[in-house]
Amino acid sequence: VKIMQSENMGTLYGIGVGPGDSELLTLKGYRLLQECNVIAYPKKNADENSYALGIVREYVNQTEKTMLGLVFPMTRNRAILEPKWRETVETVWGYLSKGQDVAFVTEGDPMVFSTFIHLGRLLKELYPQAKVKSVPGVSSFHAAASQLQVPFADGDDSVAIVPATRDMEQMKRMLELHDCIVFIKIAKVFDTILDLLTELGLEKNAFVVTKVTGPDEMIWTDASELRGKKLGYLTLMVVRK
Ligand SMILES: C[S@@+](CC[C@H](N)C(=O)[O-])C[C@H]1O[C@@H](n2cnc3c(N)ncnc32)[C@H](O)[C@@H]1O
Repeated sequence: VKIMQSENMGTLYGIGVGPGDSELLTLKGYRLLQECNVIAYPKKNADENSYALGIVREYVNQTEKTMLGLVFPMTRNRAILEPKWRETVETVWGYLSKGQDVAFVTEGDPMVFSTFIHLGRLLKELYPQAKVKSVPGVSSFHAAASQLQVPFADGDDSVAIVPATRDMEQMKRMLELHDCIVFIKIAKVFDTILDLLTELGLEKNAFVVTKVTGPDEMIWTDASELRGKKLGYLTLMVVRK
């Protein structure tokens, strides 16, 4: 009976769609987008476009699919987050339990700093029988290496991927320890990172990329030009020694 049940159940797929260029989707990701009837995508609020969905728009026939926009509020307030997350999990489970596969598109890779991680985890917590899989995608930092033509690692080099939400002491330690450091989520603390780079004599080693490989990509090879400027959320910094 158990086997029957799980055979009739749909799978939640986290599909990495890459960082912007729609040609960076994998063939496996493409196939699953064709095969799954329900395409879920993350958005910050009800009337905002999804960057991830935009990347694969040309491959998804939105009139034939069930399009499921899932709102993930950008807040740390648990009283807002928890009921909203639960509601989202219940919505997804509604499809899976009826035997429908759900493809959740994620920008970059689904297992790297993504909403899919939390969605999959909470789904498994509430419904341990749920089937969850993911298809890797090209991460923003992988794409940045190619766009900048800056090799991230060679020989014995080590690389660190660091959310700039860490405290300054920790970020400084990362800069001292590794040969290549990628800071993500830098927009709000950008000037403070610049100060840290100057302190360590690394200001000439920093590159900044926004919306890497996408149609609106921007690259700065001199990070100090950006001091005091407002940066978009999809911006990262590469520091290469
Ligand atoms: C929540 S993480 C998502 C990471 C994503 N799953 C990946 O594999 O690249 C968001 C942060 O990653 C970086 N990022 C994501 N996509 C980007 C892009 N297309 N261009 C530049 N930076 C990006 C930014 O620093 C952003 O604040």
